[in-house]
Amino acid sequence: MSNRMWGGRFAEGPDAIMEEINASIDYDRKLYRQDIEGSKAHVRMLAARQIVTPDDAKAIVQGLDTILSEIESGTFTFSRALEDIHMNVEARLAELIGPAAGRLHTARSRNDQVATDFKLWVRDTLDTLDDQLSELMQVLAEKAELHAGDVMPGFTHLQSAQPVTFGHHLMAYVEMFARDRSRVRDARKRMNESPLGSAALAGTSFPIDRKMTAEALGFDRPTANSLDAVSDRDFVIEALSCASITAMHLSRLAEEIVIWCSAQFGFVKLSDKFSTGSSIMPQKKNPDAAELVRAKTGRIYGSLQGLLTMMKGLPLAYSKDMQEDKEQAFDGLASISLALAAMTGMMRDLEPVIKTMKKAAGSGYATATDLADWLVRVLGLPFRDAHHVTGKMVALAVDKGVELHKVPLEDMKAVEPRITQEVFSVLSVDKSVRSRTSYGGTSPVNVRKQARRWLKALAAE
Ligand code: ARG
Repeated sequence: MSNRMWGGRFAEGPDAIMEEINASIDYDRKLYRQDIEGSKAHVRMLAARQIVTPDDAKAIVQGLDTILSEIESGTFTFSRALEDIHMNVEARLAELIGPAAGRLHTARSRNDQVATDFKLWVRDTLDTLDDQLSELMQVLAEKAELHAGDVMPGFTHLQSAQPVTFGHHLMAYVEMFARDRSRVRDARKRMNESPLGSAALAGTSFPIDRKMTAEALGFDRPTANSLDAVSDRDFVIEALSCASITAMHLSRLAEEIVIWCSAQFGFVKLSDKFSTGSSIMPQKKNPDAAELVRAKTGRIYGSLQGLLTMMKGLPLAYSKDMQEDKEQAFDGLASISLALAAMTGMMRDLEPVIKTMKKAAGSGYATATDLADWLVRVLGLPFRDAHHVTGKMVALAVDKGVELHKVPLEDMKAVEPRITQEVFSVLSVDKSVRSRTSYGGTSPVNVRKQARRWLKALAAE
């Protein structure tokens, strides 16, 4: 049997393989709510413009509401032969209300319909990501305020560089996630134009009111070009690109958690709720949630790459290739949402081991820069010379197998005779972080201020 939606010119039905490659209902049924919402807005507009009668419009709206409750209660039967969510809904509508159902598709095509449905779905998803990012920022900023003065090693090249505070480290991520959030909001603003009424590609000869449907669906305005409207998938590509950048940030934090909770570092303790054990090694407590957040990055980037590649060679306007956007986008966006939830839970429960962090901060000659700065400030050496002198002292310390603050004053004097006992005051990690008061620096006062600033801004939203 040929397809009852478009089979007028067909004598035969599709091959089973054709049905399998063509049907998208197994995944695009996710768009049922958006599809019904879009159809209701469309038919109300058709009635307002006297393109369909008020009675038909009423029957259609009621039928669509029935379908919504059938889908939500699990009694709706989806059919692969009907390809996608749009035709499944419309076919059921015909069963429920008879021939009036056929009037719904006036001045519309599946091409503008699918673009509308998908945009509505992506828009909701961006709003969820926005909320999730803000929750994560809140958890991080609260923890940062609590640990604004707790010292840990700051790294470059994963080598001890200079002491920082744990709060400062966490606040670095708050800044990253704040930028991620602003990207999400920006993407939402740009995508919020309604494709509905662009029809197949060229617009329609019916006297429709696109502003009315745009408004009913919460869009800022209708799209200005019908070809663009049905061909555009950059809204979802942009959402995936936002997701990819966020995933990259999450993955860096996840990587740090994995390193920090190793026995060799021992900087943090993960809660039991976000770790797992080993079936053979009883001592193990593995940071699986962090590892999975790190791993999800792959499939999130993959979905972005998939869509960019799928779109790149398509002539205007719609091609069926574009149906391949959904599964990948659903997967990529569900993954980022889950990764955010897992990271938020993990960070909420994570406990720093302050003593271990502090001890590590004092090792690896991490206050060498403080020594060099002291030579500049107190003895008036040019920084380059101070750097050289300090380098010699570090070499001395390495030779003796001690930390910088354990090198005897006489030995220091042999390198730089003007050095005094006072130098030892800057070699402590606490002093080091307290002295970093430049704007954006790691001093506890600074960190506390930044954490409070963010907490206040988040609470005021
Ligand atoms: N299921 C299709 C998709 O997701 C809907 C649009 C079909 N349009 C068409 N002209 N065949 O892209």
